[in-house]
Amino acid sequence: ESYDMAGHDTYMHKEITEQAEAVDRVLRGRIDDRFATVRLGGLNMDAREARGVRRVKILGCGSAYHAGMIGAQLIEELARIPADAEPASEFRYRNPVVDPDTLYVAVSQSGETYDTLAAVQELKRKGARVLGVVNVVGSAIARETDGGVYVHAGPEVCVVSTKCFTNTAVAFALLALHLGRIRDLSVADGRRIISGLRRLPGQIAEILAQEEAIAKLAAEYADAKSMMFVGRVRGYPVAREAALKLKEVSYIHAEAYPASELKHGPLALIEPAVPTVAVLPEDELLEKNRATLEEIRARGGRILAVAHAEQEKADHTVVVPRNEVELDPILMSVPLQLLAYHTALALGRDIDRPRNLAKSVTVE
Ligand code: AGP
Repeated sequence: ESYDMAGHDTYMHKEITEQAEAVDRVLRGRIDDRFATVRLGGLNMDAREARGVRRVKILGCGSAYHAGMIGAQLIEELARIPADAEPASEFRYRNPVVDPDTLYVAVSQSGETYDTLAAVQELKRKGARVLGVVNVVGSAIARETDGGVYVHAGPEVCVVSTKCFTNTAVAFALLALHLGRIRDLSVADGRRIISGLRRLPGQIAEILAQEEAIAKLAAEYADAKSMMFVGRVRGYPVAREAALKLKEVSYIHAEAYPASELKHGPLALIEPAVPTVAVLPEDELLEKNRATLEEIRARGGRILAVAHAEQEKADHTVVVPRNEVELDPILMSVPLQLLAYHTALALGRDIDRPRNLAKSVTVE
């Protein structure tokens, strides 16, 4: 991929449409069918060391942090290692306890984000093992970490991250599968995840083919004064990232909440001028999520659902193809990138250069 616009009106659009090939690239050469795992030579960590990991702490900012949230869930689900993600900017200011059995993972598209780099340097000074999940080869974070996984999204020019977010989430799926197969993940489950990973590029292409319909929905919701994004567990990081994307490019105020938290306060905001985007993967929480749609409807809120089948309680549904439940968040983020893009387009925003933002924040 090049810096050429290749006929697109914005880099954001170009980069959204490049995602099937980008995901193909992050997978290429890494799948090991024989052992139902992946080869990640850059980790510089042997099986014995991987077995010694007691916790995983993922650090990044903005979209990288959200991809890290998906990563933490994947590592807990596939490798059964307690994992969580935290904004690198918060972590470095709070004098964190640095534990020798914790594996730290710094996530960054540019590899130059100052808050993330400073967190890595503080961790290294305290003797921690830090891996990088980074897009730009040879960047500062890639150099300062002990090893890692390159994301191979290709150059990302638009200030808002799209293809790199997706590829980072896939890179975490690879890391989780690798750690899982060293620990308790069965061969059968390893094969199931590998087959899911291989389906991703084709399924992303299927989602991108719905662009026209998503553009119409964007035009319908572009009059919102604010938007709520909700999801439970796997859907929650998707909601977080989609809300960030919408506010960055369209300047519509957006809030993301775990769906279960709505009744603890944010439900007060729901009214016809505040539509909700609900992320409802077909997992064990689907019924709970449907009940949330009813609560929103009862307060007069419009609902746009992203789901695996038409939702009768929603005003509109974007139907995405099913993958394995663990990988569904990766796919469900893609239509919401298109929603943000088309909302910004309908509102005449400067999509590639949103006000007040820089692609890479290299200062404190
Ligand atoms: C993404 O849309 C944003 N521009 C921003 O949140 C970004 O993800 C963040 O600043 C981190 O950048 P990095 O991935 O280069 O470290």
